[in-house]
Amino acid sequence: MSRKRVAVLISGRGSNMAALIEAAKDKNYPAEIVLVVSNVADAGGLAVARSNGIAAEVVDHTAFGKDRAAFERALQAKLEQHRIELICLAGFMRLLTAGFVAKWQERMLNIHPALLPAFKGLDTHKRALAAGAKLHGASVHFVVPEMDAGPIIVQGAVAVHANDTEAALAARVLTVEHRIYPLALRLVAEGRVRVENSRCLIDGKPAPLS
Ligand code: GRF
Repeated sequence: MSRKRVAVLISGRGSNMAALIEAAKDKNYPAEIVLVVSNVADAGGLAVARSNGIAAEVVDHTAFGKDRAAFERALQAKLEQHRIELICLAGFMRLLTAGFVAKWQERMLNIHPALLPAFKGLDTHKRALAAGAKLHGASVHFVVPEMDAGPIIVQGAVAVHANDTEAALAARVLTVEHRIYPLALRLVAEGRVRVENSRCLIDGKPAPLS
């Protein structure tokens, strides 16, 4: 089976992007990262992608003002140029329109640093600590128009420690992110994930915590 052609969309340091690139170095991995796109010109992840020989391009949203559709047309053009089959959002800090999301339905993944549906949005670690949560983690899900709301593909959990700082908790969750994103992409690329009633089934069954 040919490997799926994947674009990773970033806005910053790109550590999840790097984890996906590492996983895809294995010839048996069912996906290859062929393109990285950042909406921020000086995103740290761009240099990492280039040093791995991956095409890394900038589509600067500020150049399009408030015209989200025009930004997405430019993005879509890059994706088509590189014959992209799957998209991984990895710290990509732009909301995408329903039209773009529909075009990539069940072919676009996102990673969120919380156990969805808890703590959608920003500052998840701070909010988990403030809520006194004992368990926290990360989720990889299919992207739907509503933010952080799509069918969950894989989740990984960590314990929240009594004296945790936001930074310590974030670092613990990040190690989980780097493990579960390559796993989720693998499952999707292998065609093992099906969405039924807004829930993901893996090999036809509900899947356990990863
Ligand atoms: C990660 O915590 C990810 O879950 C969130 O944004 C952060 C991006 O980090 N969506 P990185 O750029 O992958 O290092």
